[in-house]
Amino acid sequence: MYRTNTCGELRLADKGRKVTLAGWVQKSRKLGGMTFIDLRDRYGITQLVVESDAAPELVQAASSLGREYVIQARGEVVERSSKNMKMPTGEIEIRLESINVLNKSVTPPFTIEEESDGGEDLRARYRYLDLRRPPLQRALALRHRLAQEVRSYLDGQGFMEIETPYLIKSTPEGARDFVVPSRMNPGTFYALPQSPQTFKQLLMVAGYDRYFQIVRCFRDEDLRADRQPEFTQIDCEMSFVEQEDVLNVFEGMMRQMFHNALGVDIPDPLPRMKWYDAMDRYGSDKPDVRFGMEITEITDLVKGHGFGVFDEARYVGAIAVEGCAGYTRKQLDELTEWVKRPQVGAKGLVYIRLNSDGSVKSSVDKFYSAETLREVASRCGAHDGDLVLVLCGEKRKAQTMLGVLRIEMGNRLGLRDPHVFAPLWVVDFPLLEWSEEDGRFYAMHHPFTAPKPEHEQWFYSDRKEDLERVCANAYDFVLNGTELGGGSIRIHDAQMQSRMFEVLGISKEDAEYKFGFIINAFKYGAPPHGGLAFGFDRVCALFGGQETIRDYIAFPKNNQGRDVMIDSPSRIDDTQMKELWLESTFRQ
Ligand code: AMO
Repeated sequence: MYRTNTCGELRLADKGRKVTLAGWVQKSRKLGGMTFIDLRDRYGITQLVVESDAAPELVQAASSLGREYVIQARGEVVERSSKNMKMPTGEIEIRLESINVLNKSVTPPFTIEEESDGGEDLRARYRYLDLRRPPLQRALALRHRLAQEVRSYLDGQGFMEIETPYLIKSTPEGARDFVVPSRMNPGTFYALPQSPQTFKQLLMVAGYDRYFQIVRCFRDEDLRADRQPEFTQIDCEMSFVEQEDVLNVFEGMMRQMFHNALGVDIPDPLPRMKWYDAMDRYGSDKPDVRFGMEITEITDLVKGHGFGVFDEARYVGAIAVEGCAGYTRKQLDELTEWVKRPQVGAKGLVYIRLNSDGSVKSSVDKFYSAETLREVASRCGAHDGDLVLVLCGEKRKAQTMLGVLRIEMGNRLGLRDPHVFAPLWVVDFPLLEWSEEDGRFYAMHHPFTAPKPEHEQWFYSDRKEDLERVCANAYDFVLNGTELGGGSIRIHDAQMQSRMFEVLGISKEDAEYKFGFIINAFKYGAPPHGGLAFGFDRVCALFGGQETIRDYIAFPKNNQGRDVMIDSPSRIDDTQMKELWLESTFRQ
């Protein structure tokens, strides 16, 4: 037997027991003839001690241990003279009788402790060492727990876990595909699934009624803190359901996950917000509702006062930032530069300071009387001591910019506590999104999403304004400003599906080529169905109080989509290229 106990489990009640532990040497230090060793495993850290009067071989063995040596240590549990109450095992130590080195280690390139001294890139190269650190072990343990909660809840609700293939044909999620050349079929490629969307719908046609899968998805898109090229979805689909049924089932799932993994009880029922309200009030379809600072339209109040920028603007909106009237000129200039960055895209920023002495100061004093400025401020809900920030432009663009500014001010004011959870459903998304650049509609969710039954007449109209008005039974689960999941009620009628492709400007031939199999399947009795998918990595990260998902994935890619540990992607040799019918355009 390698060990009688783990490094995280011994307590004062075990005093006097003879135990054997095995693990990694995190640290060893000498103190007045005694050697103290911190022994670490997945379960915790236990202090080992070799007394100054121990057998010379033992003293020698203890002093020759290096960091990350794997050892087996035998001894007696004793009470510590100086206790460390911050550690669960901090009241005891093991007085050693023997040490057996199971494996030596070269000196690790960074410290493997709660906080490491290694930079991100170095730690990524030695991910297996970084993964020994407690924060990463906690992150993966949380991920494991949440996966178990998902499985137990969905199993209890009658869902079947069914795997779908990875080597498939392009899916409709709208990102770029990763493709895999086929050796056996010259010149052809598989696409890796951006999601199992089409397969889960086919499973509904096949009568499986309730499907789920915790499944890897692949999307070749620009990476961000909450995006990886391969990520995991909790993917689900249900037959004979309406939107309400889907929302109820998955609200239940999230409620159980919050309760069992975090001890947090989320509201029952969860708040819902229509997409149009989310845009108008928060400038985002994934509103962070942990704090107010809502957007207020002030177009009617500011037009016609001779200030050209506002006179010409289609929309003028503002947010009231509590307690920030004291912002200096320098801070306001810096904020103006901030909103002008391409990521925000504003042309400028107007402010109104409501000084605590009751006076008003604004960057557009020349054009507006103090009364008008006060009227604006009061509509925004601002009080003395607050700062009003104003942006203008085309309605949705200006609202989106205000939404980004609102989040920034929320961050600056510490209003976005990651351990406060404010989940909600955003519902009634528009079905279609017009692209000015391409002069065509795109599906806001994906082309299998059904229009709301009461909007069908507009869906069959040829007028752009009508089509723009069509809403879908589509919904997103939003937590703290992040879209955790999304789904919709699907089209289950072949004729409506054809109309959808027509609206999207996808020719019959193209639709047939890309999605012929599903259009065909719908001719054989497709039940009404709908579903959704949660981004599992995002769920884990947010539950863990983080925004970046990388630490919740055992072996993630970096921002360039590279795994620097295994050095991938990498070149393949000419023989392999030939077998795959590929020619290299990159000769070195
Ligand atoms: P959607 O494209 O909205 O829907 O994806 C569902 C959820 O997956 C997560 N997600 C990602 N997470 C990490 N990295 C990425 N690159 C990434 N892309 C998406 C998000 C998102 O909410 N088939 C539909 C679902 C359905 O209609 O049932 C779909 O994939 O959290």
